[in-house]
Amino acid sequence: MNIELIKIPEPPTDLLYLDNRRLRKNDEKYLIESFETPLIGYYNWDYRDTENRIKKLYELGKRLNWNAMLDVDWSIEFPEDQRYTNIDLNPFSELPEYKQLTDSKKLEMDHETLAWNASQFLHGEQGALLVSSQLVSCAPTHQAKLYASSQAFDEGRHVEVFHKYINKRVGYMYPINPYLKILLDKMLSDSRWDLKFIGMQLIVEGLALAAFESMIQSTNDPLLREICKLTKRDEARHVTFGVNFLEEYIPLLSEEEVEERAEFALEACKVMRERLINTAVPVKFLGITEDKAREILLDDHVIGDFRKLLFSNIVPNLKRVGLLTEKIRPKFNELGILEYEDLPDSGLVSLEELNKPLFDKTLNKNEEPR
Ligand SMILES: [Fe+2]
Ligand SMILES: [Fe+2]
Repeated sequence: MNIELIKIPEPPTDLLYLDNRRLRKNDEKYLIESFETPLIGYYNWDYRDTENRIKKLYELGKRLNWNAMLDVDWSIEFPEDQRYTNIDLNPFSELPEYKQLTDSKKLEMDHETLAWNASQFLHGEQGALLVSSQLVSCAPTHQAKLYASSQAFDEGRHVEVFHKYINKRVGYMYPINPYLKILLDKMLSDSRWDLKFIGMQLIVEGLALAAFESMIQSTNDPLLREICKLTKRDEARHVTFGVNFLEEYIPLLSEEEVEERAEFALEACKVMRERLINTAVPVKFLGITEDKAREILLDDHVIGDFRKLLFSNIVPNLKRVGLLTEKIRPKFNELGILEYEDLPDSGLVSLEELNKPLFDKTLNKNEEPR
């Protein structure tokens, strides 16, 4: 097979069609964008193995693997004339520009919104795969490396499942949200392993938990709901690992180092808030400006609930690991997200909860594990 690698300086800005639908048949060109990383890795010659939560999480990770090819019911179809998301969840439904659309355009907008959301899941999972694979080298302890290796496999399967889903349902991808890309670039190219760790395990994984939960609640597609439930289960383990590891590591740092990391977490939260804003689809369908789309989205109660879910997954964890310092707290307050600090954190999520059987009657139509 002739493989042609096409190096591009930044991510595509247009829709990208997948191979087995419409375009790119027999196309063996691969689009790649490089990043550089001054990765500092460590050998661990003592292979120290302690009976702790990280070891238990690693055991759970091995046991609860699911297989996107075998454990997801890909025969579930979705009628092309149905909406993926109910109209009352569309922040633009009261806008005259929306009301003027024909029914088929409204449906098309709904389908493109699904494509945008699923594409961001896919790109985010690729980022998680790349960062967790770096952590396999640069996490400082043997146990954290083993866990990171299981996480990298989880993330690989997440990439696979969302790619397959997009292929089945829509056949094209939206480009990565620029804010998500900024955060991924920062984590991948920083030499400090713990910044990667904080950004990935607390911020991006916290976002993933909120995003999958919100999709489970809002989508009309049972296939997407099933995939999100399986994936979210893995992400919950990843966040718990991050919290458990960092709460022991952060106190070892100097005050200055802690403040630097707290500042990074704050910046990452700001960027993640922007990741939720999808202006691309409304601008395309409604002909409104990006600023207007943004304004409507920021005011919308559904997006507001999502933001709340997002930061209620992140802020208590930052507090637990010691990154809500006295110095940084006013800045979190300015962002309007300090109010979540006393909600339950993920550090003590019961292992019993994470240990529940992977397949149950609500998850699959079949009563027995496939
Ligand atoms: Fe993931
Ligand atoms: Fe993850």
